[in-house]
Amino acid sequence: MKDLKLITTKDSSHSLFVPALNETYHSTYGAIQESMHVFIHHGLYYWLANRSSSSVKLLEVGLGTALNALLTYLTSLKEQVVIEYTGLEPYPITWEYAQQLNYVTRIVEREKQFTQEHLLKTFKKLHQYTGASLCKLSTYFFFQRIELLLEDFFAPTSSFDIIYFDTFAPNKQVALWQFDLLQKVYQMMKSKGIWVTYCAKGQLKRDLRQLGMHVETLSGPPGKKEMVRAIKK
Ligand SMILES: C[S@@+](CC[C@H](N)C(=O)[O-])C[C@H]1O[C@@H](n2cnc3c(N)ncnc32)[C@H](O)[C@@H]1O
Repeated sequence: MKDLKLITTKDSSHSLFVPALNETYHSTYGAIQESMHVFIHHGLYYWLANRSSSSVKLLEVGLGTALNALLTYLTSLKEQVVIEYTGLEPYPITWEYAQQLNYVTRIVEREKQFTQEHLLKTFKKLHQYTGASLCKLSTYFFFQRIELLLEDFFAPTSSFDIIYFDTFAPNKQVALWQFDLLQKVYQMMKSKGIWVTYCAKGQLKRDLRQLGMHVETLSGPPGKKEMVRAIKK
């Protein structure tokens, strides 16, 4: 972890800077703001508005700080929807490091119905649980972290309703955005499943269309013009 640097983004939430990649884990315009916009609103809430089942199976590629996971946990409680969350992360950050992140404090300021103690306990579990099966964090939220590269991860076809694709950008991690890997994730998705990412590169959109998905270019979070949501037909 000595290679990661804690930074504060413009919405005052933390992120991590990776000097080796010259890349951050989140938008420098706002980590929480980006996560809420891309993954929670255009991903999870979109799926809930169009849902065909009462529970959600979700795969995040690049669990990282577990910010997306924590915000998804809150949404599961608020919307009373059962979510099974699988976070793929080959390089997990330690709890010693993660506890320096200010997400719990920032979220509690906005979401007064949740206590610091409750969210900190959950955030800790998201970082420390390493069991081989889903762990119940609440009536509504079940969680599992898988310490594998996407390249080495396999799930049965039609496993997931939602994909949060949150790896580093294509110009930093070219391999993760190649057609073969996108196709592998596509096959894990259920029909009508949705895929969201902060990235809006033309090549990504062409590849997702070639896979047969309905691709939408949506307004990005502040500081970013566009993002992508793709729906499996
Ligand atoms: C942009 S950061 C993720 C941010 C994260 N979603 C969050 O909320 O903090 C990208 C993540 O992808 C992970 N990663 C790197 N290579 C990967 C691979 N081959 N497969 C899956 N994840 C990978 C990194 O370790 C990093 O945590």
